[in-house]
Amino acid sequence: MNPRIPIILDMDTGIDDALAIIYALQSPTLEVLGITTCFGNGDVATTTRNTLMMVELSKHTVPVYAGARDPLVGQFIPTAEAFHGRNGLGGLTDHRPQLRAEAESAVDYLRRIIRSRPGEITLVVTGRLTNLANALNADPGLGFLIKRVVLMGGAAFVGGNVTPVSEANIWGDPEAAWVVFHSGVELVMVGLDVTMQVMIEDAQVSGMDPRRAYTPVIQEALDFYLAAYNPGQPKGHRQAPLHDPLAVAVAEDPSLCELVGYPVDIELGGTMTRGMTVVDRRSWIRNDPNVLVCQSVDRERFLREFCTRLGFPLLDPGSVGPL
Ligand code: BDR
Ligand code: CA
Repeated sequence: MNPRIPIILDMDTGIDDALAIIYALQSPTLEVLGITTCFGNGDVATTTRNTLMMVELSKHTVPVYAGARDPLVGQFIPTAEAFHGRNGLGGLTDHRPQLRAEAESAVDYLRRIIRSRPGEITLVVTGRLTNLANALNADPGLGFLIKRVVLMGGAAFVGGNVTPVSEANIWGDPEAAWVVFHSGVELVMVGLDVTMQVMIEDAQVSGMDPRRAYTPVIQEALDFYLAAYNPGQPKGHRQAPLHDPLAVAVAEDPSLCELVGYPVDIELGGTMTRGMTVVDRRSWIRNDPNVLVCQSVDRERFLREFCTRLGFPLLDPGSVGPL
């Protein structure tokens, strides 16, 4: 039997991060060593509480470490409430997990665990890259000890979601993204190019396995998420993207996506382009690739595994309604 793949999740736990936590904790091949949190889909107190809530409901034991409150430059600007709700999980129920975060900070934890297992750990970041950038700034050699960073973020050849060209996780701290993209660490970018192709639908949410402890919380959260992504659409005809679970799935099995190496940089200025992931496609320029960009995804294979693992019914591809 192959040894499990040691990973750390770094998240801004809103609704799709919550699904990603369950996907990772229920994986037969991933070993989740710890989860670090960051501002993003809420302030860091909210995203940490949501993370603890999902660990608790998944009935796993994983340490959680609270991380950055603010980006490298300026202060956290909340923008995600429309998609993740007042409390990051749809906004209706206030959750009070029993679990508590560790006393150690996210950055201290990242530095300690990565140095204790050089070359072994994959970091999956589904929020701003702030914690990793802070760790790299404090300990510049750290990047060479990380096996790989798989990030949900950016938009290589498609438009953005917060601005016409910027994706939320990069837009929320472009300076941090710049530090990571220039660090020399192996980067796999799971951007909007592929995450907007893996959708969850109403019929899956209503048909969730009622025996799982997390089902009521996830159903409430996904009802909000589906409404946010489909304004004006009636229930039964709504779809919304599984951004963050796809990043975990690619960390587990990179063959789910077609990965192509490109030089990618982060726009820090611009009047309309701050936070853009700028991909250099000029084949005649000798500029070494720094990012493996996910260009396409085996949508059906991912959705089959996602639904089976989390207790959603499988749908006939392209239709609305259970098989
Ligand atoms: C990303 O932004 C966040 O709101 C989601 O959780 C996801 O990580 C999508 O752009
Ligand atoms: Ca996220």
